[in-house]
This record gives sequence, structure tokens and C-alpha cells, in this order.
Amino acid sequence: MHTPPELAALHFDTYSTPAQVYAAPGRVNLIGEHTDYCDGFVMPAAIEFKTMVAVSPRNDGRLLVRSVNYNESIDHPINEFLDRRFTELRAGSETHWSDYVGGVLWALREHGIPVADGFSMTLEGNVPLGSGLSSSAAVEVATAFAVLGTTSFDLPLATIAQLCRHAENAYVGANVGIMDQYVSCCGAQDHAVMIDCRSLQYTLAPIPPDVRIVICNSMVKHSNSGGEYNTRRAEIEQGTQILRRHRPEIKALRDATVEDLERWGTEMPENVLRRCRHVITEDNRVIAAVEAFRAGDLVRFGQLMREAHISFRDDFEASCREIDILVDLANQQPGCYGARLTGGGFGGCTVNLVAADHAEAFTQAMRGGYKKAINIDADIYITRASAGAHQINL
Ligand code: GLA
Repeated sequence: MHTPPELAALHFDTYSTPAQVYAAPGRVNLIGEHTDYCDGFVMPAAIEFKTMVAVSPRNDGRLLVRSVNYNESIDHPINEFLDRRFTELRAGSETHWSDYVGGVLWALREHGIPVADGFSMTLEGNVPLGSGLSSSAAVEVATAFAVLGTTSFDLPLATIAQLCRHAENAYVGANVGIMDQYVSCCGAQDHAVMIDCRSLQYTLAPIPPDVRIVICNSMVKHSNSGGEYNTRRAEIEQGTQILRRHRPEIKALRDATVEDLERWGTEMPENVLRRCRHVITEDNRVIAAVEAFRAGDLVRFGQLMREAHISFRDDFEASCREIDILVDLANQQPGCYGARLTGGGFGGCTVNLVAADHAEAFTQAMRGGYKKAINIDADIYITRASAGAHQINL
């Protein structure tokens, strides 16, 4: 990946104009899966992988974007780009990388941010694609920061995250929650972020210096804009509606309890009942995990991660064979407090909390064990929690 000054130089070579450079990170979620769109709790951390956007304003109403990763450029009259709604896009083809940029411009314009004069952008990122580490959110948030940086508008981080989420929901067509975009905005170095996805309040929790976050990439591709993620959301909505008939104050599953489910779950199809049980128990686990983390009780935290994985695998049915192999292997390693599938599911990565002095040995054992079990070379990253989106001083 280029350094920020190199990216600015590349931008200059392409567009003959100096650029400002912005960066936004991907994320790993420690615990709290599929709770965000149920107004619940999550505990992610921003990671070192990020997307950078070099940007300069134009005055000819065009949007020019060059993606270094895809070695591809687009050049559209910006209005045409802004009018393309996701329905048309989906009717035609697969999601294109530039939809994430176009979607953010569209959402910003809906919010009253002037974008019509156009922009030149150069994009480059190193968040592994389709691995459940929020490469899309990193592109969206970096784009939003870049565009806002060229205007005098200063939006709260929660609003920027909401606009980026709106872009992904309404423009790209992935019905995701707020977690990825929000933590990409508000992450902090060496801290996990505890987010209440209803109030959008967040607090930072320092990650103890003697543990490492290790991410194991199963190399099984994952996508939120594919069918499974949206199907799960629909199942959750169905279950919520059934509970709401009995307790109208249940706005989202955040408001429901295990007892509610025991009482009225019989009215739900089996699969819907299990999806709801995952979400309701997961919220409880996040609350307990936050307490354990604050108390420095990593053993308890790790145990909650293990329970979360079992629930994600059996009740939510969002795991896959490769991921379960990684989790089982991790649980056998010395120094590993806990392991689970992270992100939307159906492939992607596991997150592992590992004692710092075991991290290297853990990595080797995981690589060797996965290769032996399934003959795939897993990518493994020992990462630090890192800062949220920001402008880079050149
Ligand atoms: C994806 C979505 C998030 C969240 C997770 C599951 O990452 O983008 O909003 O729903 O899946 O926790």
C-alpha cells in the first residue's frame, strides 16, 4: 500500500491537482453480533487495516474516482451518479466498488451537503475484502470524511455514521446496522468501543497491554449484500412483530427478554424463534462482557465469547465449517481466552483474545492446524485497536 504522501502524489499525477488525504479503519467485533439493528449493544474495535481517500474538489460537476486496488477509474457527471438508485443498480449487475462512493455522495446530498460541483478522488485500502472486517464501511467513512473535509460542514460522528449506513442500506442494498460505520468513525487506539446502538452513546474501554487481538481469516468470502444477511434481518423482524403483539412497548429485540420468548416463542416458526433467542441472549452477553472487561476478568470475557460463538453457530446459523474449525482449534491453544466468528457471518474471520506472550505461538499453531485440517492457508493478523477516521497530515 502507498504511504499517504505517495497517494497524494499519485492523485497529483492523475488529476494535476493537490489533494488532502483521509483514512478510515475497518473493524473487528469482539462481541455482540446482529444486535446493532435490534437497537442493542456491540463491542467492536477499529483495526489497523484502513481505506485512504485522496480528494480534491472540482467545479465541472463530475465525479472522478480512481481505485488503486481495482486498478480502475470511473468518470461520471455527478448528477447522473447521484440519481442512480440501488434498485436500478441491482436490476443490472453486482455491486460495484464505486457504489460505496456514489452512495455516500447521494446520502450526503440528501442531508443537505453540497456535492454538485464534483470531486476527484484516489482510493486505496488494505482491509481484506469480503472477510467480515468492514472493508465497505471503511470506504464509506473515508469518502464521507474526504467530502466533508472539502466543505465547511462539521457533522457529529454519529451523523456521519448514520449517513454512511443509509448509503449502504438504500443505495448499495445491504440492510446493515450502524456498528461498522460508527466504530470506523469513533474508534480509538488501544481501545474497544462499547456502543449502545439505540442512543448511539459510546464509551471506550482500554485493551489491557498483556493481550492481543488475533484475527484468523478463514479465506471463505463473506458478503452483506448477498441473501443471507438480509434474510436474517427479515426473520428477526418477523419475530419482533410477534412479540410486539403481546407487548407493544417492544420496539426492537433490545426491549425483549428471554422470558418473553419462552412465553410467546411458540407462535413463531422454529428458525425465527432461534434467531431471536440469539439476539436476546447476545445482548445479555455483551452487557456481561463489558463488565468483565472493565473488571479485567479476561477469563470471563473469553467464556462469553465462546458462548456467543455457540449461539451464533447454532441459533443464528451464521457460521460455516471452516470457521468452526478455526474456533475449535483456537479453543485448544494455550493463552487463548476466547474465540468466535466476527462480523456478519457466513465466512470471513474469527476474532481471538490471546495472552500477549502466547500470540506468536498461537498464530503458528492456528496456521498449521487449519492447513492440516482443511488444506487452506489462513491469513492471520495480530492487530492493535486503532484510531477512528481522520485527516492525515502530509
Ligand atoms: C455486519 C453489519 C453490521 C452488523 C454485523 C453483525 O458487519 O454491517 O451492521 O449487523 O454484520 O453483527
